[in-house]
Amino acid sequence: MKPTGKIRQNEGMNDIDYLRISLIDRCNFRCQYCMPEGTDLTYALQRNLLTQEELLSLIREVFIPVGFSRFRLTGGEPLIRPGVVEIVRAIASMSETQDLAMTTNAFLLADLAQDLYDAGLRRINISLDSLKAEVFDQIIGNRGRSRWQQVWNGIQAAHRVGFDPLKLNVVVIPSVNDAEVLDLAALSIDRNWHVRFIEFMPIGNDDLFQDRGWVSSEELRCRIRDRWGLTDGQVRGNGPADVFQIPGAKGTLGFISQMSECFCDRCNRMRLSADGWLRPCLLNETGQIDLRSQLRSGVPLHELRQQVRELVLLKPEINYKERDSGTTGRYSRTMSQIGG
Ligand code: GTP
Ligand code: 5AD
Ligand code: SF4
Repeated sequence: MKPTGKIRQNEGMNDIDYLRISLIDRCNFRCQYCMPEGTDLTYALQRNLLTQEELLSLIREVFIPVGFSRFRLTGGEPLIRPGVVEIVRAIASMSETQDLAMTTNAFLLADLAQDLYDAGLRRINISLDSLKAEVFDQIIGNRGRSRWQQVWNGIQAAHRVGFDPLKLNVVVIPSVNDAEVLDLAALSIDRNWHVRFIEFMPIGNDDLFQDRGWVSSEELRCRIRDRWGLTDGQVRGNGPADVFQIPGAKGTLGFISQMSECFCDRCNRMRLSADGWLRPCLLNETGQIDLRSQLRSGVPLHELRQQVRELVLLKPEINYKERDSGTTGRYSRTMSQIGG
């Protein structure tokens, strides 16, 4: 589908310079849409995860020389990776780093927010799918004591410490949380928070997706427009969100519309999995490179640089040709294993 003509936050910037780095494939939550019950979750063995030294060496010696300068740390859940603060410090202190951000579920954020900020992290995106503790716990697959409050404390801590922009990600699922869209959107009115609604994608969650379906960004915008009106907005970011604003609000509303509108033609990113595979596209595995095995078997860094360079050049072809598997295909890895 053609873009709507709206000015996008990353318009004209589809140089491939944004690397999403998964620090670990495990997660302390089990979101229904990400790893539904019954999913066969095979995690990478500890010894197969990139070590901190390997990761930093790949960033410094391979990705930066090839032209990557914007990095986002993801998971699984990045905050359960031992040494996460040191990794942030090391990447933030590289002079070529133009942007460093993190996507987290915030369960461990209350205690880590200040250390992460002091280490140089400035941007953080947090998943918050519901304002109701019971719904939230149901979505994240929690049967024990509610985890909502701790996540909320994490968000408050990020706000206090000064993360800016602070974004909240909501995957909208019919009859689960779509009735809360206005309440969630309202969080952007009095606070400088940026709430983003993400169209629910079928990745490793066939049953839930068949059962519930998805809601389009346009439908959500209609609801929000009816209530408050909606104007164009702007917020710093490297991702595919279309940004709007409730008139007079301090924050913005973003819409990530991968189901209703293909944004592969403006894709600016690649993904490095926790076990060292570089994948050019979220939605298919074509062209992946196993950097970890090569690094460990002594393949020289200049050769790895050459392989990554070639993959960058190949990427537009991979995006387009195999895109259709994106909305219909089956995936051998879940979203959390790929890194969201
Ligand atoms: P900003 O730099 O703040 O714009 O970040 P971002 O939107 O790139 O990062 P975030 O991790 O918050 O991503 C939000 C959601 O966008 C993800 O959870 C996915 O649902 C979706 N998304 C991100 N990258 C891709 C992509 O390459 N392809 C598709 N189809 N969806 C993506
Ligand atoms: N559809 C859309 N977004 C998803 N995420 C995980 N699974 C899905 C899905 N099926 C998003 C979460 C979080 C990030 C880690 O990935 O909202 O922002
Ligand atoms: Fe939920 Fe993110 Fe963990 Fe997936 S990786 S289970 S979306 S918190």
